[in-house]
Amino acid sequence: MTPTADKKRHRTIRSFVRRAGRLTPSQQRALGELWPSYGVDFSPAPLDFDGLFGRDAPVVLEIGFGNGDSLVQQALENPGMNFLGIEVHEPGVGHCLLQADAAGLSNLKLIMHDAIEVLTHQLPPASLQRINIYFPDPWPKKRHHKRRLVQHTFLKLIHDRLKPGGMLHVATDWANYAGHIDDVLGDSGLFRCDERREHDGDAPLDRPETKFERRGLRKGHRIWDWRFTRMAKND
Ligand SMILES: C[S@@+](CC[C@H](N)C(=O)[O-])C[C@H]1O[C@@H](n2cnc3c(N)ncnc32)[C@H](O)[C@@H]1O
Repeated sequence: MTPTADKKRHRTIRSFVRRAGRLTPSQQRALGELWPSYGVDFSPAPLDFDGLFGRDAPVVLEIGFGNGDSLVQQALENPGMNFLGIEVHEPGVGHCLLQADAAGLSNLKLIMHDAIEVLTHQLPPASLQRINIYFPDPWPKKRHHKRRLVQHTFLKLIHDRLKPGGMLHVATDWANYAGHIDDVLGDSGLFRCDERREHDGDAPLDRPETKFERRGLRKGHRIWDWRFTRMAKND
């Protein structure tokens, strides 16, 4: 394969498959009426967070927020922080818009686009205080492992977008993905593990319970939670 063809092939490996998922009428309405208040369209130009949120406050990013319940709860509980959520699943974004509006949030913005492209083109270097990745798609089949979000190139990207001393929180209910996360973060030399918990949904690390966590617990899965700190390159 030529280098160009190889590059092209890699660009098409995504961490998600767009599911058709039907929008309820209220989600459909929310996407039309509430998007102007909470939505940020994807653009390859770097965002100015102070201008976007109308104030200078630490920014917390959640990648793959699903239906957004945990994102909305965290934004409500932390009014001094700005929250940015990225999700590709339209019904989830519609649900999140409805919850944000019902809660009257002014510290939340949403982007409906591939998080890798958003991080690469739209989020400035050293701009985020914390990144949350709760129950990323596990891609359990070996031949699909390359689709997992947490990979070395991804870690290099988020390391660059976090502020010095910024935090990365991750949770999963898949034992094999947990082992992968331990390995890839341990090998990266980019993050220090400050806390790691393995539990039955009874000891989460500074986050609300999520929909996929409840689903995993119903199936009898265990839960793994990590808190990492971004290290300086020479730490
Ligand atoms: C297993 S679900 C977890 C949802 C939620 N965090 C929870 O715990 O309930 C993973 C979510 O990540 C989203 N996702 C996966 N890759 C993504 C990407 N590259 N950009 C944006 N969203 C992504 C999927 O659409 C899906 O909704």
